[in-house]
Amino acid sequence: MYLVTGASGNVGSLVVEQLVNAGHAVRAYVRSPSKLAHLNGRIDVAAGDYDTPDAFSRALDGVQGVFLMNIGGAEGFRELAQRAAARDVARAVMLSSAMVEFLPETMLGRAHREKEDLLTAAGLDARFVRPTGFMSNSYLWVHGIRAEGVVANPMGTGRAAPVAPEDIAAVAVRALTDPGSTEKTMLVTGGETISVPEQVALLAQWLDRPLRCVDITLDQAVENLARAGIPHPIAASIVKSYESVREGRGATVSDTVERLLGRKPLRFEQWLKMHIDAFR
Ligand SMILES: NC(=O)c1ccc[n+]([C@@H]2O[C@H](COP(=O)([O-])OP(=O)(O)OC[C@H]3O[C@@H](n4cnc5c(N)ncnc54)[C@H](OP(=O)(O)O)[C@@H]3O)[C@@H](O)[C@H]2O)c1
Repeated sequence: MYLVTGASGNVGSLVVEQLVNAGHAVRAYVRSPSKLAHLNGRIDVAAGDYDTPDAFSRALDGVQGVFLMNIGGAEGFRELAQRAAARDVARAVMLSSAMVEFLPETMLGRAHREKEDLLTAAGLDARFVRPTGFMSNSYLWVHGIRAEGVVANPMGTGRAAPVAPEDIAAVAVRALTDPGSTEKTMLVTGGETISVPEQVALLAQWLDRPLRCVDITLDQAVENLARAGIPHPIAASIVKSYESVREGRGATVSDTVERLLGRKPLRFEQWLKMHIDAFR
């Protein structure tokens, strides 16, 4: 049995789906079980929060591996890590971030690193999936596309290697379920580098309508993220990663997906075709 937290999210929902499709028993640990009603009968669902450790302990019953995320503060996370270790959970896989490697001094770089260290300190066999920017971050563009055919772009023509949540989940599932896997940290990127204007051109092509990229400043990007509900310090930290892309420091490509999964990562255009309806 695998316990998946964040199971209603972009990556966690795919971890659940991929585990189930591979024939594994899954329990989702979620704040709102109703969000997983569509999976009724296919998985166990346990209600709980990252700050309800007793509910988490109960959800660990019979669990061999747990999928965790950077949620909440260090104290609550340490408690969950210790609860998992006390129940002899064989493996913990955390959705971390490439910012641990590339922008370690930023708030998000430090926060992910701290949680990684807490899992290791608890004595768990912990594995860290460190993705670059998600392709699904482009959902942030949906409002501007629908309203005026415009994408606000703080990254100029800088190139990055965005990664599909489907590939991140697949690496996490491999790390959870493969007893022979030995890699502790996995930098997960897409297989190609691409700029925002190039992504927007592909979107225009697949939506079959003209779209415009409008350059914005990094400060405006912080404000936009804050307006979308992201707390200001986190928004500012995210924008540090935009800055590194804009300055040409965001184009690292890793071979992790191909090496671990034996296939190439999804290209942005492939991912886009799978999700194009979300942009209409
Ligand atoms: N986006 C990127 O480019 C990027 C790059 C590198 C790393 N990352 C990492 O990936 C994470 C985002 O992953 P994602 O897109 O899959 O997340 P997401 O779609 O935002 O989903 C977050 C999940 O966490 C759950 N959650 C939030 N607070 C919780 C709490 N207090 N207790 C229990 N569950 C809680 C949410 O449940 P509810 O449904 O109840 O809200 C949801 O299932 C980032 O936070 C970061 O750590 C992201």
